[in-house]
Amino acid sequence: MSTTEAAAWRNPLRDKRDKRMARIPGPCAVVIFGVTGDLARKKLMPAIYDLANRGLLPPSFALVGFARRDWADEDFSQVVYDAVKQHARTPFRQEVWDRLAEGFRFVQGAFDDDEAFSRLAATLHTLDAERGTSGNHAFYLSIPPKAFPQVLQQLSRTGLAARTDGSWSRVVIEKPFGHDLASAEELNALVNSVFPESSVFRIDHYLGKETVQNILALRFANEMFEPIWNAHYVDHVQITMAEDIGLGGRGGYYDGVGAARDVIQNHLIQLLALTAMEEPVSFSPAELQAEKIKVLAASRLAEPLDETTSRGQYAAGWQGGEKVVGLLDEEGFSQTSLTETFAAITVDVDTRRWAGVPFYLRTGKRLGRRVTEIALVFKRAPHLPFDATMTEELGKNALVIRVQPDEGITLRFGSKVPGNAMEVRDVSMDFSYGSAFAEESPEAYERLILDVLLGEPSLFPVNDEVELSWKILDPALQYWAKNGKPDTYESGTWGPESAFEMLHRTGREWRRP
Ligand code: BG6
Repeated sequence: MSTTEAAAWRNPLRDKRDKRMARIPGPCAVVIFGVTGDLARKKLMPAIYDLANRGLLPPSFALVGFARRDWADEDFSQVVYDAVKQHARTPFRQEVWDRLAEGFRFVQGAFDDDEAFSRLAATLHTLDAERGTSGNHAFYLSIPPKAFPQVLQQLSRTGLAARTDGSWSRVVIEKPFGHDLASAEELNALVNSVFPESSVFRIDHYLGKETVQNILALRFANEMFEPIWNAHYVDHVQITMAEDIGLGGRGGYYDGVGAARDVIQNHLIQLLALTAMEEPVSFSPAELQAEKIKVLAASRLAEPLDETTSRGQYAAGWQGGEKVVGLLDEEGFSQTSLTETFAAITVDVDTRRWAGVPFYLRTGKRLGRRVTEIALVFKRAPHLPFDATMTEELGKNALVIRVQPDEGITLRFGSKVPGNAMEVRDVSMDFSYGSAFAEESPEAYERLILDVLLGEPSLFPVNDEVELSWKILDPALQYWAKNGKPDTYESGTWGPESAFEMLHRTGREWRRP
């Protein structure tokens, strides 16, 4: 970040730029470690092409792949081409592709190969001189965490991590950010020993989603929601991230990690932070982070854990009209795997605004359907001046932020059923992104990669947020580790019985999205 940019972030009110105008990063190169992986192919390479296609990459841009494969630059280019053709969001344009592909390079090597990293440094220096990437480099670590120390040490050894000449060097880290609080602290210390925190960009791709950013617009750009966004009116909050897919073939990453570490520690706790935090003084990254950190520090698991948490593993069942196998019969999982594919927790947020309002977080694979939503479920009206039979079908009011799919917001409230009686039934009022806006939402990775290149850190969790999230989750992980086997649930349903009991106990129910 330049000094002027840094000053503007510190005091955004002084930055008079029209923030609606797209910003294009200066000359730079992105190096992807883990270029043969799924994430690179399905998300990173297509996002880079989509950014180029939208005119958001600088003319002096280069993409360098680093992997063990014996590839020439042309082979790498072909791999990116195939990924773009298959997964890019925007139409293929030959002239955009040709310009972009001129900046592709491949460096062959393993992470413990000093010479390979020296070749990487030489390749980058040549690109800086010939393509004009000016010494600005982003290193994307799309690799297993056990490889982090080696790569970080190599970047430090070759001088690629440190800068004194006004150019920048940034590191982008994919989750998992550790396995628990202790390992996250260790990882953060390691990363920060090589890169200063301001050069570290931890990816939580949920923060790149439009609907997630809209939580702040909804809350803080309007007058009508914030007055009721508190314990006086809200009975509880449900944050759901449900997927219908199974885990066949993902055993290598997922086995031993499980749903809570994979999704709750990062995506769902970030959604909780945005939903529960106080209004930031401004939208500068530092002010936003300060509020998120405050609310995370005030959050803890509700107890007793045998009543307030649930975890499960999917068994065989039916999904989308097809018979599917259970986790233990999926490729890459052992018959004795204790990994949970469903997890639910209850979080108490000990602040004046939220005291007494449980936040229920749940996620799972092979559930009824793919849906992510945040639902604020309101208290009942203090008095209903109707005959009881007339309000039999009246539920609790709810404000539902539909993160995906069918992105938008729904308000559920009671309305009179047409007819002679005063019968009241639930209805919905809907806002849908698809019909309200002509523009299509960019992919989360487009936004996040662009922000890395611009040095804009708002959408990236800092080390304190990561550590506080583990601190919230750790007691559940330890409790489950002591408890042996997770419960089971049939594929295509909404999770194990224990998840339903968790809410029934308090007279509440999960929403059926
Ligand atoms: C990833 C998890 O972070 O998010 C995956 O590791 C999950 O297990 C994915 O499938 C879901 O992302 P999205 O954007 O499709 O909701």
